[in-house]
Parts: sequence; structure tokens; C-alpha cells
Amino acid sequence: MNRTVRAARRLRGTIEPPGDKSISHRAAILNAIAQGEAAVDNFQTGADCLATIRCLRALGIRIESPAPGALRVQGAGRSGLREASAILNAANSGTTLRLLAGLLAAQPFFSVLTGDASLRSRPMGRIVEPLRAMGARIQGRAGGTRPPLAIEGGRLRGVRHRLPVASAQVKSALTLAGLYAEGETVLEEPAPSRDHTERMLRAMGAAIVVGEGGLRVSPLTGDLAPLSLRVPGDISAAAFWMVAAAAHPDAELRLTGVGVNPSRSGIVDALRAMGARIAVEEEQTWGCEPVADIVVHSSHLRGTVIEGTLIPRLIDEVPALAVAACLAEGETVVRDAGELRVKESDRIRATAGELRRLGARIQELPDGMVIHGVGSLRGAACGSHGDHRLAMALAVAGLLAAGETTVRSAEAVAISYSSFWNDLDRVAL
Ligand code: S3P
Repeated sequence: MNRTVRAARRLRGTIEPPGDKSISHRAAILNAIAQGEAAVDNFQTGADCLATIRCLRALGIRIESPAPGALRVQGAGRSGLREASAILNAANSGTTLRLLAGLLAAQPFFSVLTGDASLRSRPMGRIVEPLRAMGARIQGRAGGTRPPLAIEGGRLRGVRHRLPVASAQVKSALTLAGLYAEGETVLEEPAPSRDHTERMLRAMGAAIVVGEGGLRVSPLTGDLAPLSLRVPGDISAAAFWMVAAAAHPDAELRLTGVGVNPSRSGIVDALRAMGARIAVEEEQTWGCEPVADIVVHSSHLRGTVIEGTLIPRLIDEVPALAVAACLAEGETVVRDAGELRVKESDRIRATAGELRRLGARIQELPDGMVIHGVGSLRGAACGSHGDHRLAMALAVAGLLAAGETTVRSAEAVAISYSSFWNDLDRVAL
């Protein structure tokens, strides 16, 4: 599907971004192994989270959806998962495949996990190797580094593992395995990644300690308590509107109920460092997560450097930030972000290549990019590479560019933000 976006004369209004994708996956998976019923509100209904629901149902978990965004998960207890009779398909979702691989490595049955062409090309050695060190029996393509993965679940032992790159998916997969292992599992990361799994598991009664030496996971000694929650709005979805408003000359957007967990809010810090006028208001707590309204006004943006520990705090927001950087004064450098090459697309190459069609001047680095502010973009035809975040970044570029921009494979937005085009039509005046 192609979508044409015209230059917006003004951006005005209020957007309630969809439920957080990372938290939604975890709310379903963790509640599936708790004992009893959990009610989850504002669950993300994009294709990624629905893949998680389908897999959990195939593993014998009863999940009902009484209304859009509402879930009732009947937790079957820590030993309640059952062997699926067919291959589990995670579709485009790395979080589904990696978290379930960690969980299934510890179950007393056989599982096969696969995904779409993009997911089948993404690296799995980062979970398979440490899971094998815990005693897991996992086979896969390319020596176990690519899906499909065949998992002969069984008894595991705790290990100490230093993650080579900050990754919440890897950390969470090993945490789930660690809940079932004999002895403690200790995980060290080069920089902190999102900590939703730790927060939720602690609230459900697991012995998870975050300290100097890393994250320590003790084996479960009893069942987890179900955790009912309202999922905060996804800051990774809100990010597109933050960039649109900050970079547009006549804009004011209010984003309501957005998760502002510090391990996710790097986009606010990066845009502020670029001079963006962003207010964080009405701070509250939903369950174990901080939430706020974010108000963004037209701003004069200047280039910045985005690197180091800031990278995992905004890893999914780099395509959007690249759009802001094109319209900023001076140069923006993104480095230490080699992980972007193994996301739903090679996001360094794809972002640079597609934004160049709109007149951007971007130089690729092995682990990032140098974006030269060009002051203005011009509408053109471009493509999403089937990557939801690139589709939305290009749509925002289209709102800011002169004339018309056509985004090919625009349906990719439905992976994480089904109502994206409706929201765009509503605020772009
Ligand atoms: C996610 C972690 C990140 C992020 C992805 C969601 C999660 O991936 O890019 O969109 O829910 O744990 P990595 O763990 O590969 O960094």
C-alpha cells in the first residue's frame, strides 16, 4: 500500500499513543506463567503483540479480549505451559521470538519458533549461546544463529553472562530462563537497556535484584502473582509526533499517557539537547511504570551528538531523530548504534537511503550516521523496506517536506501503531 503525505501547514491537537509494545508483550508472557487471572488494559493491538498472544494460546494459555485493548490472561502457573502442536510463528516480532525462546528452553517439551523473512534473518546467537551455556538444547539455521529455532526444553542451570551489547530482549530471555534454572543467573550489560521485565517480575513476586554486579535472578520458589495493569502509551510511537512538532514551524502537540521510564526516555533528552521545547507534565505511576503527558512546540533545532549510554535509551527512535537532524542547524552524529543494522531492517542504511531521496545529506558510519542539517526537505517517493519505524519516520518527513511524499509499503505501520494514519490525518492541518 502506498500512502501520500502532504506538507502540513500546521500541526495541532492531542494524541494518545497506542499501548507500549515492549510492556504489552511482557504483560502477556509474564501473566501467562503466573497463577490466576490478570486484566490488562490498553494492550497494544499491533501485529507484533498479537503474534505473542497467538503463540501463548498455542502453548495452552487462555487469553480473552472482551473489548479492543482489553485482555484477560488466565495464568496457568509456572508449570502450566503445554507443548504446542505446531510451529510457533513470531511473524515480524523479535521480542516474541527471543523472550519465548528463553522461556521455552526451560519447559519440559519441544518447541519450534520461526518468523517472517525479516525475523529469520536476524541474529539469534546472542540468545542461543548463553542459553546453551545454561544447558539448553537448541538447534537452528546457521549453527543456531538464525530462526527457525528448535528447542528441546529441559533443566537449566544459572550462569553469569556478560551481554556483548545492551539488549533488553536478550536480558529478558535469559531472565525468563533463569526463573526456572538451578542456582542464580547473573546478567551484566555494557549499558542499561529497558527494564520492564525486571519491574514487572519484581511486582509479581520474583526475586530479582539489580545492583552493582548486574542483574541477579533467583529461581522461582513458588508461583508468580498475576499482575493487572494499564499499559502506558508507547514513547517509541510518541517519538514520531515529538519530532514532527519540534521540527515544524507552526506546531503544538500534546501526547497523553506516555510511558516515561528512564530506560526509554532518551528521545526527550536528545531532542532537548537539540533545542526542542518539550514539557513533561501530569506525571503519575501506572502499575510499576512512570507515565506523563508530553507537550511539544515548534522549536529551532541544532545538531547534537547521540552516543554511549544514550543509545539503548532511544534505540528505536533513531529513524525519527534522523528526520529532526535533517531540519536542524549543523551536524548531528549518531554513533555506538551498530545494533540498528540488525533491527527489522538495516536501519542505518535504509534511513539514510530513503531520506536522501527527500534531499537529506547523510553519511553512513559502521555504527551510526552523520546527518548534515539541510534546513528543508522536498517531497519524493520513498519506501519503508517493510519496517514500521521507517514508514512512520518517512511519513513525518513528508509532513515537514515541501510538496508531496509517497511512502511505499506504508502498511508496515500496523506492526506497532495501527491508528498511525488516522492520527496523522487528525493533527496535520
Ligand atoms: C525490545 C528491545 C529492543 C528494541 C525492540 C523491543 C524489547 O531490542 O529495539 O524494539 O521489547 O525488549 P534489543 O533488545 O534487540 O535491543
